[in-house]
Amino acid sequence: MKHPVPSIAILLVLFCISWRSASSQTSSHSGDAEGHQWWQHAVFYEIYPRSFADSNNDGIGDLKGITSKLDYLKDLGVDAIWISPCFPSPQVDFGYDVSDYENIDPMYGTLADFDMLTSEAKKRGIHVILDFVVNHTSDQHQWFLDSKSSRTSAHRDWYIWRDGKGPGQPPNNWVSTFGGSAWKFDPTTNQYYYHYFYAEQPDLNWRNPAVKDAMFDVTRWWYKRGVAGFRLDAVDTLFEDPNLRDNPIQKPGKNAFGDPFEEKKYNTKLPEVHEVLRGLRQVADEHNAVLIGETWTADVAELNQYYGQSNNELQLPMDFLFTMVNKLSPAEFRKQIAAVDAASGWPTFVISNHDIVRSYDRYGDGKHNDQIAKLMAALYLTLRGTPIMYYGEEIGMKTTPPTRQEDVKDPIGRTGWPKEKGRDGERTPMQWNSSENAGFTKGTPWLPVPPTYKTHNVADESKNSDSVLAFYKKVLKLRHTNQALLEGNYKAINEDDANVLSYLRTHKDQTVVVVLNMSDSPQKLNLDLKRNGFASANSLLSTAKSTAKGEEVQLEPYGIFIGQLIK
Ligand code: GLC
Ligand code: CA
Repeated sequence: MKHPVPSIAILLVLFCISWRSASSQTSSHSGDAEGHQWWQHAVFYEIYPRSFADSNNDGIGDLKGITSKLDYLKDLGVDAIWISPCFPSPQVDFGYDVSDYENIDPMYGTLADFDMLTSEAKKRGIHVILDFVVNHTSDQHQWFLDSKSSRTSAHRDWYIWRDGKGPGQPPNNWVSTFGGSAWKFDPTTNQYYYHYFYAEQPDLNWRNPAVKDAMFDVTRWWYKRGVAGFRLDAVDTLFEDPNLRDNPIQKPGKNAFGDPFEEKKYNTKLPEVHEVLRGLRQVADEHNAVLIGETWTADVAELNQYYGQSNNELQLPMDFLFTMVNKLSPAEFRKQIAAVDAASGWPTFVISNHDIVRSYDRYGDGKHNDQIAKLMAALYLTLRGTPIMYYGEEIGMKTTPPTRQEDVKDPIGRTGWPKEKGRDGERTPMQWNSSENAGFTKGTPWLPVPPTYKTHNVADESKNSDSVLAFYKKVLKLRHTNQALLEGNYKAINEDDANVLSYLRTHKDQTVVVVLNMSDSPQKLNLDLKRNGFASANSLLSTAKSTAKGEEVQLEPYGIFIGQLIK
């Protein structure tokens, strides 16, 4: 396949195309002009800590490593970093199995290292966001160890325990999104516990008020330590049908793990999640903090539900439908941008993360990958909304999955091989320079460094004004200094053009035009500026052979023209 879609992403989205009778909401557009919160003007950057920078050369990235790269991030134009889980964890799901929410895993450092990181970040005006794994803990968390110890233990009801239907039969047909039954039998108490993800990640019972209190307190604990918000992991899966009804089967056949295709009707997106989100938001508001959501929504009506009826839930629910536009199609991007622009809250744009194939590979054609990487940067960094970058995207890092099953680290890649190769490919070490191991570590990196580090690395790209990195810096600088890009409303123009995506961003009397050639041939177009009251466009940032004259714009293949409109 030319643009491989990650099968984990498909799995996650499939369950979204499901049972919602999306309650209609009045879509009151949040103001674009004034009164923005800090997170609306900020550019976020996701760091996968294992892979960013290794300070003690054990092959695994760490907090001191991140601190040592803050100047780089500041210079790049990053205002907030979201660090994927760095809490104590057996690392079955590489940190998404937390065994203590109020500490740092020794492999990443100490709480003192964390305090150092936040204080150094603060000096540079960078906010620190943590990843809050709300749906489940590790099976090694004290809460679960106590829970499984006896049917009458203090924490028994903190997780979801049920009798089987009969000998060797789980309570219902639910399958784990990571393969196999979502129920694991525990012989100590002769009951099954529920796990939406790996068996080592038992789901918390959010119907128990004690769970809610303990988890809310975790956020308070980190806010007091200077954390500016959380990315909430897997919020869709917080609640389950109390009657445990069987999920319907969507279609015949088996998925990569050999399980039936289930519609996750009774174990995802239950309405009860919204009460929890409103509560978490109240606590966040007391600390001027932001809540980002890992929200796999099927449409904007669902996305609106995550903003909350009066914008009192998540400030930044991620729009993954944008990542599902899997070809460079102006029509499809136009449609998706318009939908999100009309959502009831402030848009959030993401093109890559630690669970999906990097945008570099999803959109790259193998010949113009760097130009296309710049094009994608010019797109999602000039839209109305908050962008969340993913480490390495700014240098054109390539997804590099393992080629042999025995090299796979991500468990789903081992169980799902060869259909599902896991997520190692998008988690490879950051490429800092062209020395051994790309300057990530002097030890043996936990995942191999892709061969592209020789051509795509921070040091070399910093010296090359035509690099992907140089372009990212320019567009981020423009975004930070241009009021129309920061706050302006969004208006699509030339909507019938099949090759070029164009739009205006207007704030007060300032208008910027963004023109993106999504084709491999040169394009010439008339912007019809007079209709919008303008005569011409002055380039603010364009690729070498893309220019404007009066109303006319000429673009090289995958060319970019960003200009200020003049009356
Ligand atoms: C989210 C994370 C993913 C993790 C899963 C279970 O989807 O992004 O990496 O495996 O939750 O915690
Ligand atoms: Ca290390």
